[in-house]
Amino acid sequence: MEYFDTHAHYNDEKFDEDREELLKEIFNNNVTKIVCAGYNVEKSEMAVEIAGKYDFVYATCGISPNDTDDFSDDKIEMIKKIGSKNKVVAIGEIGLDYYWNKNNKEIQKKIFEKQLEIANSLKLPIVIHTRDAWQETLEILRKTPVEKKGIFHCCPLNQELIKEAVKLGFYISFSGNVTFKNAKSEPCIKLVPFDKILIETDSPYLTPEPFRGRRNDSGKVKYVAQKIAEVLDKTEEEVAKQTYENGCRIFGI
Ligand code: NI
Repeated sequence: MEYFDTHAHYNDEKFDEDREELLKEIFNNNVTKIVCAGYNVEKSEMAVEIAGKYDFVYATCGISPNDTDDFSDDKIEMIKKIGSKNKVVAIGEIGLDYYWNKNNKEIQKKIFEKQLEIANSLKLPIVIHTRDAWQETLEILRKTPVEKKGIFHCCPLNQELIKEAVKLGFYISFSGNVTFKNAKSEPCIKLVPFDKILIETDSPYLTPEPFRGRRNDSGKVKYVAQKIAEVLDKTEEEVAKQTYENGCRIFGI
């Protein structure tokens, strides 16, 4: 059995101490594909660097809605440049976050839209981060459609959002949050066609049960697969295989 962790941040400083050994160990534990997601210019460059070192790691580049503080048009140009590098498989994570940042909605929208244009010009899919802003996120995606579609990463467990996202042709990526006790994840998981489901860890965050509170890593993506298998009445192996294929398809790997 092999797993594809479609979203992790090995560019986070929490991995500075042991990145090399950890990635080796993860690969030996059958997580044989990982996408390392960027969220600002510096971390996008670092994601590409890490992807360059490990065959099984790929990268995304983008400016997240929580990294807009010192925004300039130059940064958009830099993301475009990084996006054309080897092993960059998507523009992301990008989107809107009105939970952490309520006071700069217009600038968040502008940065999101500009990066949708980058995705279209580079013919790449997008990786979306959306929090407390799902309607506005969908509105922008309808206004500026992305040719290669993309992924709702760490998708909020909101049935309305999932229905609409699937209708628009997007993939839904579930993370450790589906394992949390009060998550009500079952109806959400059931809404997604099997060929549109992805699994991720969002490491070092969102550690699944029963390890909640500790640093997360891709080795724990299997707990997300297990939860989905339980809900869909499939084997963990079937879920691992299908989500692996789905990940390769959307990222063009
Ligand atoms: Ni993330």
